[in-house]
Amino acid sequence: MKILAIETSCDETAAAVAVDFESGVKILSNIVSSQIELHKKYGGVVPEVAAREHVLDILPVIDRALHDAGIDRHDLSAGKKVLDAIAVTKGPGLMSSLQTGVETAKSLALAWHIPLVAVNHIEGHIYANFIDAKQEIKFPAIVLTVSGGHTILVLMKGYGDFEMIGETRDDAAGEAFDKAAKLMGIGYPGGPVVSAYAEQLRIINKLTNLKSQFKIHLPRPMMDADNFDFSFSGLKTAIRYALEADTAWRERIPEYCYEFQEAVCDVLVAKTIRAAKKYDAKTVMMAGGVSANKRLRELLEQRVKNELGDTDFVMPELKYTTDNAAMIASAGIFKFQRGETTDFGEMSADCNFNLS
Ligand code: KG4
Ligand code: ZN
Repeated sequence: MKILAIETSCDETAAAVAVDFESGVKILSNIVSSQIELHKKYGGVVPEVAAREHVLDILPVIDRALHDAGIDRHDLSAGKKVLDAIAVTKGPGLMSSLQTGVETAKSLALAWHIPLVAVNHIEGHIYANFIDAKQEIKFPAIVLTVSGGHTILVLMKGYGDFEMIGETRDDAAGEAFDKAAKLMGIGYPGGPVVSAYAEQLRIINKLTNLKSQFKIHLPRPMMDADNFDFSFSGLKTAIRYALEADTAWRERIPEYCYEFQEAVCDVLVAKTIRAAKKYDAKTVMMAGGVSANKRLRELLEQRVKNELGDTDFVMPELKYTTDNAAMIASAGIFKFQRGETTDFGEMSADCNFNLS
């Protein structure tokens, strides 16, 4: 089957076309129009600005996705069956952003006489792992889902069968990276910048013994707590106090970034491994924008290999970690195959749309 997917939950206008392939999904086109440059000057996403951009970008982005997938939109208008369904992110996300994607998907589904599939954004991130899957993913799986808006440990018991076993009690992991970067004035979004500084220092550490001279120590919040929840707001406060107490902090930005990244990764990895042990996971996966983090990818892979023996480790390709529509297409294909379509009249954006 062939599906068109649309994603507009935050500040990326995205469309993709995908087909089902063996035990996973193959992407035929993947277009992402990012608004990062526009929001940079505000240090975060401005919903009103995001919504206006989505309206301007959505049709050209869909048109390119269809074109790159070799689909002639005139065939669709003429009623030819060149697409089986349209998947769209229903939520969670910014309401005014979600609405552009959902209303566009509804209009196209109506015009082209094809069914709609409502996809949860988090589920989409998780299904990025099924794109170009080299092997069938075994269940139960533990999925570390880490983005700018969510930090959730998900127990995936089967296709479309999710249980949230832990989540953040305050800030999301990506939000923590963004806030730390803002405190140091080093740019937006914070994750890639903090990670770039930290990587510089990691390379130097490998060549020298500099690490022994580090003076900055940040806490690992809730790492040893007997649950699968997280808390990152205390870490943000800790780095703020450390910066305030350090008159020469500007010279030590790479060191602050290094320690901050280590603290976040240590907590995320420790809890994921513990959850995988408790639930006898056959697979450990990661999902969401923060799963682009090189250190997090390396650490988790290493520990799964060292401590979990037969458990498979799967992570999405980098281009499918941050928001995109290919992941929505992937989730959409599996949902469509389970017969989970949504009637045109029942479809609406829902900023609190729950996983499962
Ligand atoms: O999944 P995503 O694109 O959007 C949401 O659904 O929120 O995630 C965006 C988040 C931002 O907070 C960004 O700082 C973070 O992902 N991020 C990273 C990295 N790349 C993006 N965090 C840490 N390291 C990275 N390399
Ligand atoms: Zn996302």
